[in-house]
Parts: sequence; C-alpha cells; structure tokens
Amino acid sequence: MDKMKFLVTGCAGFIGGHMLDFLVGKGYETVGVDNFSTGKPENMANCRGLFTFVDGDISDPAVSARAVEGVSHIIHLASVPSVPRSVANPIESMQSSVASTVVLFAAAAKAGVRRVVQAASSAAYGDSEKLPKTEDMPPAPLSPYAASKLAQEYYGMAFSASMGLDCVSLRYFNVFGPRQDPKSEYSAVIPKFITLMLEGKRPTIFGDGAQSRDFIYVGDVAAANLAAALHPGPLRGQVINVARGERIDLNQLVAKINDALGTGLAPIHAAPRTGDVLHSVADISKAKKNVGFVPEVAFDEGLRRTIEHYRKV
Ligand SMILES: NC(=O)c1ccc[n+]([C@@H]2O[C@H](COP(=O)([O-])OP(=O)(O)OC[C@H]3O[C@@H](n4cnc5c(N)ncnc54)[C@H](O)[C@@H]3O)[C@@H](O)[C@H]2O)c1
Repeated sequence: MDKMKFLVTGCAGFIGGHMLDFLVGKGYETVGVDNFSTGKPENMANCRGLFTFVDGDISDPAVSARAVEGVSHIIHLASVPSVPRSVANPIESMQSSVASTVVLFAAAAKAGVRRVVQAASSAAYGDSEKLPKTEDMPPAPLSPYAASKLAQEYYGMAFSASMGLDCVSLRYFNVFGPRQDPKSEYSAVIPKFITLMLEGKRPTIFGDGAQSRDFIYVGDVAAANLAAALHPGPLRGQVINVARGERIDLNQLVAKINDALGTGLAPIHAAPRTGDVLHSVADISKAKKNVGFVPEVAFDEGLRRTIEHYRKV
C-alpha cells in the first residue's frame, strides 16, 4: 500500500485534539490545520513536536493547498459548531462550514487525496418524531448550523460524483469527553453540567429535561473516523450515523452526575431554546455494515473518564 499521511482540519478543537492523539498514538504521519476561531493550543499539547501544524484558515486556498500537500486521507473537522451561535450569526456559520469546505475539497481533489472523512451532524434530522434516526430519512434542518452541516454533506456527494474525491460524511450525534470547553456560552451540556456540579452549583436545563440525546464518547468518534478513512471502500458521498444508539434524557444525565459526585443537586428549569431538537437517537447499523465501526465505550465509563478530567483541571 502507498504511504499514508493524514490531515486533521480543526485539530485544535475538542474532537480534533483527540483525533491527533489517536492518529499520532498509532504512529501515522499527521498534519493538522486550525485558525483558533474556537480551538485552543492546549488541545494539541499531547502531540507537540509529533505532527506538523499549519496555522491558518482553510477558506484561504493557499492554506488549504499547503495543508493537503502529500496527504492521502483527510479527517475534516473544522467548523464553528454551535446551534445558538449560528442563530446569532448565520453568515459565520455558512463561511466556517460551507465555504471553507468547498475550498478544502477543491484543494484535496487537485492534490489527489484518496479519502475525505468529514464531520456531519445529527442536527440534519431536525425534530422528526421518527426514532431511531436512519440515514434515509429526509433531512429537516432547523438552524443555520444544521443547514450548513447538511450543505457539507451535499458537497461531499458532489465532489465524489464529479471530481473523483472519495468523501464520506459521518453524522456525529452528541460527542462528549475530556477537554470539551465548559466555559463557552455555547458549550455542550455534559462539560457544563459536570463543571458546575463539581462547584456544588445547580445545572440549568432548557425545558422540562425530558429531551434526550444519543451521547458518544470522543475516543469512539476518533475510532469511527479512522475506520471510515481506512475502509477499502469506495464510500463516495455516503452519509453514516456515528452514535451509541442509546437515549439518555437530561434529567437522567443530572442524576448520573449526582451519583458519580455523591451530590444531590436539583436542576433549574428554564425556557426551551430556539432550534434545539427534542429527541435524538441513532440507528447505528449502517456504520457497522459499511465501515465496520461499533462504539466501544459505554456511556457511564465515558462519563467517569470525563468527570476524572474535570476534577483535575
Ligand atoms: N461536538 C459535537 O457534539 C459534534 C456533534 C456533531 C458534529 N460535530 C462536528 O465535529 C466537528 C468538530 O467539532 P468540535 O466539537 O471539536 O468543535 P470545536 O469548535 O472544538 O473544533 C472546531 C475546530 O475547527 C477550527 N476551525 C473552524 N473554522 C476553521 C477554518 N476555517 N480553518 C481552520 N480551522 C477552523 C476551530 O478553531 C476549532 O479548533 C465540527 O465539524 C462539528 O460540526 C461535533
């Protein structure tokens, strides 16, 4: 087999940092690119000196051309991934996810990259009442973020069909794990709740807490990306769910964190947020069948590792 070299876009982000750890840990030659719009150098700290870093914005054609040089596989994670932030600033959402993806794909097609695995999102399913979510359901984006992530998938299909780029889009559900930013206004629920509850504060749930999510540990997401990258394929334009296939509601989540911490903090309930979906759980059979990926980290184990991390920081 020809030599393999990976590019991770968004490598200073939450998932990007874990992706670097995973690839570098397995001894792959790796390049990363990030513009630090939401990412932080600390997320790459474990891999300092062990990969090549390109500091720049992939929507700049010169940056994308430099980043893809000699690369065989791309794990494309760069984006500004937040529903409320996209509602506040839809143009930023489109530029960070859609425009930059087209620039990257054009550079990748020109450089003869073998496969692109890109981060898509379960937000594409909208609030359909049909559960579990299967990849053949009609998409129904409810926020500019969801529309942008869906557009990325369509560009993956279009470049696969017309430009010879073998792209697969993995629809991640709710990813969690160590180093997810708990401080941002737009933070995901798990790091926010853990850090608040470690300080003895009550977490705020938007709505009654019956809304459910399919949480997947970040190490499993890195493994799914690698499985899709290395699959003998072709995968040309496919869309595949990446999740655990289990529902946890937010009241259960608070109870599990209370159990782990030995606390009894009751959540505060506030008004539901615009663009948020009520229930989300994936059918994960396509991931197993088409790329051989099965999640390995149970929710409680992932939560334990995540709590351990926040106890130390
Ligand atoms: N975290 C989740 O639960 C989740 C769920 C579904 C999909 N996703 C997708 O996974 C990917 C990674 O998410 P994350 O949670 O690690 O987010 P993150 O914000 O921590 O990471 C995104 C990274 O991309 C970088 N970036 C953004 N625009 C860039 C550009 N134009 N050029 C170079 N770098 C750029 C940011 O600086 C950041 O480091 C995103 O595409 C997101 O849409 C995440």
